[in-house]
Amino acid sequence: MSKKIFITTAIDYTNDVIHIGHAYEKILADVFARFQRNLLGNDNIHYTTGTDEHGTTSQKAAEKNNVSCMDLVTKIYKEDKEQIDSLNISYDRFIRTTDEDHKKQALDFFKKVFDNGDIYKAKYEGYYCEGCEAHKTLSELNEKGQCPNHPTREIQKLDEENYFFRWSKYTRFLKDLIIGNTLVVLPEGKRKEMVAFLDNGLKDITVSRPKYKVSWGITTPIDENQVIYVWFDALINYLTEGIEKGFWDKDTEIIHFVGKDIARWHALLWPAMLKSAGYKVPDLIYIHGFINLNGQKISKSLGNVIRPTELVSQFGVDAVRYYLLKYGPIVEDSDISLDNFISIYNGELANGLGNTVSRIAKLASISEFDFAEYSDPQNVWEKINKKDIDEFRIDKILSQIWKNLSELDHHINEHQPWGIKDQEKLKDILSYEVHEVRKIASAIKPIMPDIYVKISKAFFSGKIQVSDILFPRISG
Ligand code: MSP
Repeated sequence: MSKKIFITTAIDYTNDVIHIGHAYEKILADVFARFQRNLLGNDNIHYTTGTDEHGTTSQKAAEKNNVSCMDLVTKIYKEDKEQIDSLNISYDRFIRTTDEDHKKQALDFFKKVFDNGDIYKAKYEGYYCEGCEAHKTLSELNEKGQCPNHPTREIQKLDEENYFFRWSKYTRFLKDLIIGNTLVVLPEGKRKEMVAFLDNGLKDITVSRPKYKVSWGITTPIDENQVIYVWFDALINYLTEGIEKGFWDKDTEIIHFVGKDIARWHALLWPAMLKSAGYKVPDLIYIHGFINLNGQKISKSLGNVIRPTELVSQFGVDAVRYYLLKYGPIVEDSDISLDNFISIYNGELANGLGNTVSRIAKLASISEFDFAEYSDPQNVWEKINKKDIDEFRIDKILSQIWKNLSELDHHINEHQPWGIKDQEKLKDILSYEVHEVRKIASAIKPIMPDIYVKISKAFFSGKIQVSDILFPRISG
């Protein structure tokens, strides 16, 4: 039986509907899951995503909109799900932190850590960014005293009783874990950042907030005047589903996909929490960068938020998946724009993939030959470097396939099948080209599942059909 793999993305705050930046990670994890299922024959994959619904950001958004917290988060959850579904994301569970099974798991987990002596009561005096839902030191704020990630939000000054987690106790454990690669942190630059953070020393961290300040949360099992801190609550979502479905054990490879702003929570806090409660720690954390739009951070206050559905209705789902995966922030931040998308769409999709496939379909469909039947994934590894999947470099995989496509286009121009009279020679040339299209279709199946279906309908039987237009040209 193939190895169990548990794949997760961050769960999104429900103060507002997600934008294309949030969606990027869902696509990345989806493609990894589909590579496993479609090309590596591993059906033992479980993929979760969801919404992080408690805490101050959701509570304040509800107050602002004059609705109850539950009504607001349910509305945003539904809209988020619609956004994610528009991108054809093959998750197995969309988890909400307001789900009953999760609340139960969070309480049980908190109690375990408390019983192990790792939670104690103390006073917190300092800063808090509601956008990050995180306590901040002065050195983490900019010269204007703002959080660099949320400069439009006012920093809160807190002076309150909280329960704290003995995070500092786990410094050595975390160092060994990351330096020894028991927990793999990728890419390498991010791993170094995590180690450097540990070298600076960990301070114990708040894991509850008083109810008179934040009422929207799970009441702690040890004090009814406190709610579980939203990060402590949210991280446990992975375990909730993992345990229920048998994907949180030593036989499972646990992989978290997260953005760079929340790397520490996943690489440093989460493993310490798990260790304290007596659970297996994750195996791998992949940390991606940020998408910027026209050189600016995507943000509501700048008025440049784009939702996935807007792009999908203009370009089609697979074009959006392609563009974000090829030009998105797989390692470093990346800048995208609508103009750039249109030019990539016309150049690499309408022309590159669409035109090459349709030229070959036309030539082969008018020929008298039957071509050998094809069922994937035959020979797909000629097109893809397996190492790129292991390193999550979908961008490199796409570059390689598009290089192949241009070679194929070149092959057609060089051999000019339309002018060949010798039937044997013609069959050789067309068979080669048809088979190349088939292999390319199999290779892009995890990345562009709908386009794969269209190409396979036209190309996978012995008689080649003229294919639908894959990507109608878009005028700028
Ligand atoms: N709720 C927490 C995560 C809890 S996970 C147990 C959170 N939510 S978030 O809505 O702010 O962000 C969700 C994910 O989207 C994070 O991985 C974050 O890095 C990612 N992104 C948010 N904006 C982004 C871009 N502009 N570009 C790429 N990813 C971005 O943090």
